[in-house]
Amino acid sequence: MRQPALARDRFVTDDTTTLMAEEVRASLLAPVPFLPSKYFYDDRGSRLFERITRTEEYYQTRTEEALLRSCAANVVARVRPQELVELGGGVSPKVRLLLDAMRQARILRRCVLFDIHRGSLESSLNQLAREYPGLAARGIVGDFQQDVTALGTGERRLIAFLGGTIGNLHPDDEVPPFLRRLRRQMTGADGLLLGVDLVKDTARLERAYNDEAGITAEFNLNLLQVLNDRLGADFDLRAFEHVAFYDEGRAWIEMRVRSRERQEVRIPAVGLSLRFDAGDELRTEISCKYTRESLERRLQGTGLALRAWFTDPERLFGLALLGPDDTPPA
Ligand SMILES: C[S@@+](CC[C@H](N)C(=O)[O-])C[C@H]1O[C@@H](n2cnc3c(N)ncnc32)[C@H](O)[C@@H]1O
Repeated sequence: MRQPALARDRFVTDDTTTLMAEEVRASLLAPVPFLPSKYFYDDRGSRLFERITRTEEYYQTRTEEALLRSCAANVVARVRPQELVELGGGVSPKVRLLLDAMRQARILRRCVLFDIHRGSLESSLNQLAREYPGLAARGIVGDFQQDVTALGTGERRLIAFLGGTIGNLHPDDEVPPFLRRLRRQMTGADGLLLGVDLVKDTARLERAYNDEAGITAEFNLNLLQVLNDRLGADFDLRAFEHVAFYDEGRAWIEMRVRSRERQEVRIPAVGLSLRFDAGDELRTEISCKYTRESLERRLQGTGLALRAWFTDPERLFGLALLGPDDTPPA
């Protein structure tokens, strides 16, 4: 991968952009520069993601939904949760399948949605209020990697982390510490339901991130628009193209933006300029694919253990029910 050259500009920022600017700056100065994928989700990015989930190529959402339909009652019977927490729960109708199973078991009391994007959270909360009158629902705007302590601890909670979103975390550097932090918010009776996209043939995986209608491409390039809007960058979206491919050795899909031409892009709030030659690429997302075994390896030392594993007949997607194990978290 050829990468853009970096130059330092004057550092200009204000309170609302400080955190994002710091993160983007750190990621651009990393040994392999990248852009943090959590910034995909502004209003437009969230709408585009929803459209991706409805494309024929993106098997993940409908497969996970079918899986949840068949295993929600089983999961609820095992955990007997009174409270459902959804991480990255801004745009997920799937969570209703768990809420319905809890309602049917007459144990549903509370629901907490945790997401980085306030707009998605608000519309999900409004919908929940209409569909589940009497349900105590609240939203937490935050980054699940940094702010998970905002969840506090609860009593008999089921935490759902669906959609394969855990795949966006580096499987070795980020997943185990994230799970350890989450474990600290859990009591012995809580459960964590993790949706993971599974390793499969490269063609199928690559199709899912290169849909014919070009919606994933729009979603990917929208990250540059978010940097323009929030950090005053001057990316010309027409001068970049979408790239997504499966890296078999790392078992992850990598999305990048590729410069179509020689150009310089300024990101004033970050104090950097990026010099691209034609063909230079910048990573925007990884989406790690798991097997049951590779997931179990990442659980070691986290204080969490696999309690149940659900998958579809084609083994496209997996749902792992995790619970605290007897070993205290490291
Ligand atoms: C891939 S979508 C999955 C949405 C949904 N859970 C599903 O299963 O279809 C990722 C969701 O997580 C949110 N998100 C991404 N990174 C986040 C972060 N670091 N902290 C909190 N929410 C995040 C996004 O706003 C979005 O709603």
